[in-house]
Amino acid sequence: MKLGRFLLASTLFFIGCSSTPRQADLPVYLNENEPIEERIEDALQRMTLREKIDVIHAQSKFSSAGVERLGIPEVWCTDGPHGIRPEVMWDEWDQAKWTNDSCTAFPALTCLAATWNPEMSARYGMAIGEEARYREKDVLLGPGVNIYRTPMNGRNFEYMGEDPLLASKMVVPYIQNVQKNGVAACVKHFALNNQEIERHGVNVVVDDRALYEIYLPAFKAAVQEGGAWAIMPAYNRYKEQHCCHNQYLLNDILKGEWGFDGVTISDWGGVHDTKQAALHGLDMEFGSWTNGLNWGASNAYDMYHMAVPYMKMIENGELTTKELDDKVRRVLRLIFRTAMNTRKPFGSMNTEAHLQAARDIAGEGIVLLKNEGDVLPVNLDNCKNILVVGENAIKMMTVGGGSSSLKVMKEYTPLEGIINYVGDKANVIYQRGYVGDVTGEYNGVKSGQDLSESRTAEQLIADAVAAAEKADVVIFFGGLNKKEGQDCEGVDRSEYALPYGQNEVIEALAAANKNLAVVNISGNAVAMPWVEKVPSIMQGWFLGSESGNALAQVIFGEVNPSGHLPFTFPVKLEDNSAHSVGEWPGARDVHYTESIFVGYRWADKEQLKALFPFGHGLSYTTFEIGEPTMSKTSLKAGGKITIKCEVRNTGKREGAEVVQLYIGDKESSLPRPVKELKGFQKLHLAAGESGVAEFTITEDELKFFDDKKHEWVAEAGEFTAYIATSAEDVLYTLNFTLK
Ligand code: GLC
Repeated sequence: MKLGRFLLASTLFFIGCSSTPRQADLPVYLNENEPIEERIEDALQRMTLREKIDVIHAQSKFSSAGVERLGIPEVWCTDGPHGIRPEVMWDEWDQAKWTNDSCTAFPALTCLAATWNPEMSARYGMAIGEEARYREKDVLLGPGVNIYRTPMNGRNFEYMGEDPLLASKMVVPYIQNVQKNGVAACVKHFALNNQEIERHGVNVVVDDRALYEIYLPAFKAAVQEGGAWAIMPAYNRYKEQHCCHNQYLLNDILKGEWGFDGVTISDWGGVHDTKQAALHGLDMEFGSWTNGLNWGASNAYDMYHMAVPYMKMIENGELTTKELDDKVRRVLRLIFRTAMNTRKPFGSMNTEAHLQAARDIAGEGIVLLKNEGDVLPVNLDNCKNILVVGENAIKMMTVGGGSSSLKVMKEYTPLEGIINYVGDKANVIYQRGYVGDVTGEYNGVKSGQDLSESRTAEQLIADAVAAAEKADVVIFFGGLNKKEGQDCEGVDRSEYALPYGQNEVIEALAAANKNLAVVNISGNAVAMPWVEKVPSIMQGWFLGSESGNALAQVIFGEVNPSGHLPFTFPVKLEDNSAHSVGEWPGARDVHYTESIFVGYRWADKEQLKALFPFGHGLSYTTFEIGEPTMSKTSLKAGGKITIKCEVRNTGKREGAEVVQLYIGDKESSLPRPVKELKGFQKLHLAAGESGVAEFTITEDELKFFDDKKHEWVAEAGEFTAYIATSAEDVLYTLNFTLK
């Protein structure tokens, strides 16, 4: 069989070589052996004004035109950060009703961030990039790295948490590996899109320190380390200009300070003005309400702001082609990197490798928040009656939530995963417990589930309690879902509490059976008034196609959880800075009065104890972190300090620990947080095995953004390094000075 394949392949190869023209005979712009910048200039000077205008705006819902006359292909974009969106109609959000566009849904990016493992991010990017490539897409509209400023933001599940360093370290491998497939990552939403309420118009008022130290770093890393080929500016406004055409963000910072050579692709409907779009750094306009004033007339793409209106301004001399040529150069660079890149791999879809990646990422991202007693891992030798309660045990979560919604080949719900895992080793009983959202449809994709329920809330609780009294162990799956008002784009949450009366169900179950584990399926923190009454609590995230299988592997102990929280779980909403000194959701303006004190930075400043702190995560084994050593206690400009500490797995099974390095500046000319995450390392260790966590501190790790000087500065003086396993669990402090 192998020889046959080889002969066939070599025959095809020979035919291929003889029929395609040799590269040397091609015009420069078509010749992949020529430097890309020369190809760009060659193509640009061949293009007419109309052709230049055509390539900088959409021609359909998710594509922009190429230059047919020159054999330059169109550009195809696709959502989203967690999987490849099913095909929609040419000019509609509704389904094209293909039968071959079901995909693998990978875990939400909050779960990826919770792995604290850049290798998982690399696997994620490669797998989703392969699916985008297989679907012949040139741009993946993701990942998103907007900072988690408030637990009320409906879209936090698509992002990577509250800390700029964690988000920076975790976004880079994702981008690099998507792009290895010849598909551009389009990092979004740049910038300050930290709420969904009034997202198309709210004007964010934030000081430069918070902008540079909190909200921009992950985007900067995406560009300068990740090499992102595309950036999606956000809907909201900053300094009164819509981010999709914002002089400060797009021209001064992104393209100026950071040297971004890719394209800015507007969010869909984020462009409002031709002249601003022309002059303030936008390169491609998508999703506009065609005449810019009201709902789009269909197929009226010439009416886009950067279409005929822009061409007219050039023709009447109001604008030159200077900005247009820069946009076209960037679009051509994108096309040469993607659509015209003949050396890219072919991709793959719905493979076992992708499902394994989804399971592994989920298994490393699930966070064991609390585990007293011996509820988890459930031991099937002595647990013969397992009760599963809660709507989130049966509800599909890959449909809904906004543009990240998907059409999967299969989604294993938690109940399915548990039943499959247990087999005939135990009896699994299910009780609904509560009714939340019985719908399951987005843009024509239907979950197909019938979640209807006729019992009253009281009856549901009574039935669950009755079953709990007879069970060996009870596992409650609750949390949020992808319905508007929960974890969903376009709307923010209306309460910090768990919805649908879940707290009553949990309290009743805790009273009925002490062997209770609560699994919170959400992309946001929630209040847990029953936290003292529940011995085991797990953050389960939205895990995609393999949800149930990954959760079952952790619940029954096949996988040892090693996730750590990428954001703080405040006890109550008022403990979050946006809801105490800050402003949310604001009105015309929203003031980020809390400045740099976001998340644990605020908790440290106010000495607030979290329900569960940033960086927190338990394991089924135990670790010992030994006294760290420091290569020196004074750092000179240009020098470095190395901190090492031994980590030993002192338990009976393998596991992984995340050692975190925070640094605090004892005195500074401007206010600074008590400590800030400056490094982390995840060590996978066998039972009894030891490893060494190693951190390097240079001046860069000590800098803050001086908004008066408009530069990053490190001030000489005393600093403290904190070796920790969460923002609250500091094991060691080491003092050093910067000369
Ligand atoms: C949406 C989202 C953006 C998405 C785009 C295309 O409104 O804000 O993340 O990629 O439009 O669906």
